[in-house]
Amino acid sequence: MKQKYNEGYAFKLSGEELNLAERELKSTMSGSCKAVGKSGKIIMTAKKHELPKRLSMTQEVAKIIHRGLREEISGISLKEDLEGSYAVRKEFIDPDAKPEKNIESRIGNIISNRNNYVDLDNPNTVIKAYVLEDEIILGRLEQEIDRGKFDQRKNQDRPFSSPVSLDPKLARTLVNLSGIRPGEHILDPFCGTGGILIEAGLCGVGIAGTDIDEEMVEGCRKNLEEYGIINHDIRQESAEKAPEVFNREFDAIVTDLPYGRSSKKTEDIIETFMNSIESYDCRKVIMWNRDSLDGRSPDFSIDVHSSLTRYIYIID
Ligand SMILES: C[S@@+](CC[C@H](N)C(=O)[O-])C[C@H]1O[C@@H](n2cnc3c(N)ncnc32)[C@H](O)[C@@H]1O
Repeated sequence: MKQKYNEGYAFKLSGEELNLAERELKSTMSGSCKAVGKSGKIIMTAKKHELPKRLSMTQEVAKIIHRGLREEISGISLKEDLEGSYAVRKEFIDPDAKPEKNIESRIGNIISNRNNYVDLDNPNTVIKAYVLEDEIILGRLEQEIDRGKFDQRKNQDRPFSSPVSLDPKLARTLVNLSGIRPGEHILDPFCGTGGILIEAGLCGVGIAGTDIDEEMVEGCRKNLEEYGIINHDIRQESAEKAPEVFNREFDAIVTDLPYGRSSKKTEDIIETFMNSIESYDCRKVIMWNRDSLDGRSPDFSIDVHSSLTRYIYIID
């Protein structure tokens, strides 16, 4: 066990698409990450995440106060004393982590001192105990991420929606994979109803987009404004024209390509578009429903439902 992680932070991922969730985390922070345990659901980082609330696939973040073997938990002494009220919440993370009945009281014994007391209903401090197969990680809960907020932005609840609209949670993941920071600028050349640009705008990112369809362009603007994103630059234009239309650099390009059935026509559009963005010196995160893009293999695939898989390409 490397010391740097033992004193850092533990991120509990939500459980779906763990590799993608880990990549989302890595893309949004500086410093290294390391999955621990068999499930891959706990990621440890040495550094603090500056913007944990923007993550779409992480549930909670805890500052690590102890990491060690389960069998040694009764004998340890914690480096820091906990003051005020606290509650211990355990979770058996790994599938092989055998449940132990009295683990909370054993942890309580090592935490308890004359300056603190248990309050299960309204504690000042929540201590998370992530129980893996052989080891245990204790952390002071710092952040619970409200992933329900994405449901409040469901496509059907927006002023303008379409069957092509991207799920807000997945749109946020794509934005995060680009590593874009607040104050930087993003381009979505196939912006549709604005699924990606809404999530980027809510992260404090400057946004620009094109769509060939006038109705989409109008609808995208309405949707952005519904969420208070007033500064936007959305043009009715074909995607490959974006470099000349905007005539400026972007910090990331994030887009969800058209899923046309007429394959030759769609392929031609995509080929022209891919050539046009070569001039941009930034990360490109592109989603499509084909498992090859411009000779590349996808970095991730997501099974949206039994007959629909989407592929994500990350091009640096
Ligand atoms: C998969 S949808 C994007 C959906 C979008 N992410 C959203 O959340 O609504 C692809 C979009 O590409 C647009 N489109 C198709 N061909 C285009 C082209 N040559 N240039 C720009 N947009 C185009 C379509 O009108 C459609 O809105």
